[in-house]
Amino acid sequence: MTVLPTISFSKISAPKKGTAVILVAKGGKAPAIAAEIDPSGNIARAMDVSKFKGKSKSVVDIVAPAGASVDRILVVGVGEGDSVKEGDWSALGGTVRAKTASDKNLTVILDCDGVEIAPDAAAAFAQGMVLRAYDFDKYKTKKKDDEDGGDKPAAQKTTLMVDSPSDCKKVWASAEGVARGIMLARDLVNEPANILGPVEFAARAEALSALGVEIEILTEKEMKKLGMGALLGVAQGSVRPPRLVVMKWNGGKAKDQPVAFIGKGVVFDTGGISIKPAGGMEDMKGDMGGAAAVTGLMHALAARKAKANVIGIIGLVENMPDGNAQRPGDIVTSMSGQTIEVINTDAEGRLVLCDALWYCKETFKPKFMINLATLTGAILIALGQNRAGLFSNDDELAGQLYEAGEASGDRVWRMPMGPEYDKMIDSKFADMKNVGGRHAGSITAAQFLKRYVGDVPWSHLDIAGTAMASPASDTNQSWGSGYGVRLLDRLVADYYES
Ligand code: BES
Ligand code: MN
Ligand code: ZN
Repeated sequence: MTVLPTISFSKISAPKKGTAVILVAKGGKAPAIAAEIDPSGNIARAMDVSKFKGKSKSVVDIVAPAGASVDRILVVGVGEGDSVKEGDWSALGGTVRAKTASDKNLTVILDCDGVEIAPDAAAAFAQGMVLRAYDFDKYKTKKKDDEDGGDKPAAQKTTLMVDSPSDCKKVWASAEGVARGIMLARDLVNEPANILGPVEFAARAEALSALGVEIEILTEKEMKKLGMGALLGVAQGSVRPPRLVVMKWNGGKAKDQPVAFIGKGVVFDTGGISIKPAGGMEDMKGDMGGAAAVTGLMHALAARKAKANVIGIIGLVENMPDGNAQRPGDIVTSMSGQTIEVINTDAEGRLVLCDALWYCKETFKPKFMINLATLTGAILIALGQNRAGLFSNDDELAGQLYEAGEASGDRVWRMPMGPEYDKMIDSKFADMKNVGGRHAGSITAAQFLKRYVGDVPWSHLDIAGTAMASPASDTNQSWGSGYGVRLLDRLVADYYES
């Protein structure tokens, strides 16, 4: 099990044991406290000998000389002082964590010559440390390094020394809630589909009621009554019944119109009768990354008691081939009344989302709707794994998402939409078909969703490239990234709290 470091904040003073980390900006010098930790002057010498220049994330690792107050000293580069953003502080925290994972006592002196470290930055640093420590190893019966007795992550007491510990503590209380939300999303994405079916996922979401989130779970029968023929058409090929989970966080004023987040929760996507090739199909356990992000976000918002009214809706189904599965050519009727010709049963995410979006719009009349979905392989071709595709009918909302992305590190890139793409999903037999041909696959998927949002400001985030199979980074070493939680928490914090 992941052993997270326990974070505490205190005033700056020379640490008395364990490992000390000091920060140095590009071209800067070690902070005054360095001379107290090591009176012999070895720190400056080590920086000099190793040609340390303060480059971001560069490290000088020093065994403390006799007479020093600690055992080990790390000098860590911060980079160009004035250009260090919150995401960079997280990355730096992650870097420090990686170097010190097996140290039981760690003190990081967040004081840097020439760079102001505000409480927000200190909290981001701590968040990076915690996120880096996350490890999904619950199914490993032999833990890492058990045999060689080596570098096992220790239960680490981490002290962050800052100018104003009480301010930092307050900001960290929120940032820790967000970190927990991100790790919840990672857990859900990493969990295999035999363990996490729609019913089990719904139960995990239900656990958020402990934080004050109101939960409502719609069963198959209730969805049938509502006429959710598109979602149910996908679900009918699985022996495991679907669920639609509605999560409500009422942190705003009673009269505040809610904002809404909707997630694709395909717990496993075989493709259905339009079955996928075997190679790499195991990745499709992560096809609920959108639902995971929405669930993680609700956790984050509730944990930090966000002053906003927020709806989270996740459509949970399994896409399986089966005697009862839907066929290519089948025509289903969505809750909106619009009919859909299912050309390809592997384009199932949009079928789940269209009913969830319509239900959300009709039931809650939200200020905006943002949906997240591992929707198309094509978005990986277009944008790779560093940015999610952003599609929107509203320039203001799209702009806010872009800014929240740059600030938080969960970045997006806006993609085009328009009538010329929309007509690609017109159908000979029904109101629309669920695929638009080979070209512009991510865009035609977005056009499909747009037909279910009316005039509500709406954005769709295609996170097929960012939610899973993540490249290792400073703040994440796990397969699931938790992408979207930081982004949307930031969006709510910066633009939608009263
Ligand atoms: N879940 C997949 C998309 C996906 C692909 C997610 C790779 C993550 C990694 C989605 O349901 C799907 O199968 N989309 C098809 C759409 C096509 C049939 C129009 C795709 O992208 O090939
Ligand atoms: Mn699919
Ligand atoms: Zn899918």
